[in-house]
Amino acid sequence: MARPGLPSGSPFKRVADALDCGYEHRQAEMLRWMLCAGFEVMGMKSFETIPEKALPKVRNALKVYEETVLDCEPFTDILGPVYMDLASRWGRSALGQFFTPQSIAVMMAMMTIGDEEPRGRLVTACDPTCGSGVMMLSLAQVLLRQGEPDRLRRYSFTGVDLDPICARMMAMQFLDNCAIHRLEVGELVVFWGDSLLPWTKMDLLVHATSPSLQPEEVVPAARTARIWAIQAAAQSQLPLFEEWAA
Ligand SMILES: C[S@@+](CC[C@H](N)C(=O)[O-])C[C@H]1O[C@@H](n2cnc3c(N)ncnc32)[C@H](O)[C@@H]1O
Repeated sequence: MARPGLPSGSPFKRVADALDCGYEHRQAEMLRWMLCAGFEVMGMKSFETIPEKALPKVRNALKVYEETVLDCEPFTDILGPVYMDLASRWGRSALGQFFTPQSIAVMMAMMTIGDEEPRGRLVTACDPTCGSGVMMLSLAQVLLRQGEPDRLRRYSFTGVDLDPICARMMAMQFLDNCAIHRLEVGELVVFWGDSLLPWTKMDLLVHATSPSLQPEEVVPAARTARIWAIQAAAQSQLPLFEEWAA
């Protein structure tokens, strides 16, 4: 059966096309390097050396991605569809990665959050197998649609993934949306690691907090309550988006 692929003219296709260098570099490699370049631009630890020869194309892909973020509704999952398309290329769909379509993730977020203004401590949401971050991005999108951008500052978003590319996609999509659309979330925490065995090893990729938080609201990324909540969520003891005790 023919693979449907990304719709032509879609913002996802624009990014996928920018990552396409013919036979020179694989698109999956280009995606990794684009994430690496994006991390560097945001002053974060680089995780791979980008070959000199690929740099102009990587920089161009990053520019196209950033322009796409600007053109799309804030917190649109752009990299998820691109990654899925690359992962299922050349008839490898049986081995591919499949993420939740954002329309479904948005519906889940709408069904989960209430209309009440959060008061007191931050409302915490976690996806222990975050993929591109579509669940957390969709929650942020729904919060933004529902009210003032200020509401986003009362939420903490945590994501974990075993696949370093996935964890980095969530980190970059959140940080770029905040920077490009001038938005602020209460807290963003992204780990690369196994959420079923969090005590073994989890690498912290990002821990960003809003300057508007009170000092007592800023808690360490690896706070025990959070780590246990990640594990509990991974074992399905907690529904997605449920609060962890602060
Ligand atoms: C089917 S995707 C779903 C991603 C996302 N939650 C969504 O709804 O689109 C599953 C993700 O879980 C990750 N994963 C699988 N086992 C994991 C584990 N033990 N710890 C952390 N991530 C895991 C995979 O790398 C993959 O990105």
